[in-house]
Amino acid sequence: MDVYEAVTSRRAVRGFTGRPVSREVLQRVLSAAAWAPSGSNLQPWHVYVVTGEPLAEIKRRAGARLAAGEPWDEREYEMYPAVLKSPYQERRAAFGRERYSALGVTREDWEARQRAASGNWQCFGAPAALFCYVDRDLGRPQWSDLGMYLQTVMLLLRAEGLHSCPQMAWSVYRKTVAEILRPPEELILFCGMSIGSQDAAEQYIRTGRAPLDETVTFVGSR
Ligand SMILES: Cc1cc2nc3c(=O)[nH]c(=O)nc-3n(C[C@H](O)[C@H](O)[C@H](O)COP(=O)(O)O)c2cc1C
Repeated sequence: MDVYEAVTSRRAVRGFTGRPVSREVLQRVLSAAAWAPSGSNLQPWHVYVVTGEPLAEIKRRAGARLAAGEPWDEREYEMYPAVLKSPYQERRAAFGRERYSALGVTREDWEARQRAASGNWQCFGAPAALFCYVDRDLGRPQWSDLGMYLQTVMLLLRAEGLHSCPQMAWSVYRKTVAEILRPPEELILFCGMSIGSQDAAEQYIRTGRAPLDETVTFVGSR
């Protein structure tokens, strides 16, 4: 698979089969992803690879919290600004329309939306997940390094015929994740990432992208 194909075939998959992902494949992907760039080569990522019983237990505990209507954990970082200005608000709304119309869920059907969102905390059925941390003493440039690393992981997963879904949603149950993983206090959970084989029955609409001239400015001749 060439790089263009890896990039364009990657998408956030929200329906996985239970087909296991081998430790060998995950090790190969994460060994290669370690070559992702980072400012001054800090490599400021720390990733837990979780499968089997520990992952099942995280899903069980998160599911129980959700069912009990427990509040989310207090935030260690804000996912989005409180007020999202244009054009980001419009892009977010378009994403919501795409996501929920694929599921046949209307804007008003709050319960159905919650049901769809709850799949996050079951890793959408995936048999493997990463929980991706960054040191709380590091700043925005290092969070950006983490993002590059995660995209590298997701592209390599495509080369292995696998799919993924990065999930900030896990940060709202970060304490539940920490009960199982016991990360050192200095780490912040940025996101989870579900990994596995796409379930052919998954209903989805490919998300769109802004036209190139909205996000890219060419300066200089040809
Ligand atoms: C850092 C990050 C966090 C995300 N968190 C979630 C999440 O919690 N749940 C979810 O279903 N999708 C999540 N997504 C997936 C985005 O919604 C998705 O990447 C975006 O809508 C573009 O769609 P595509 O990846 O399918 O091309 C996340 C993506 C990123 C990069």
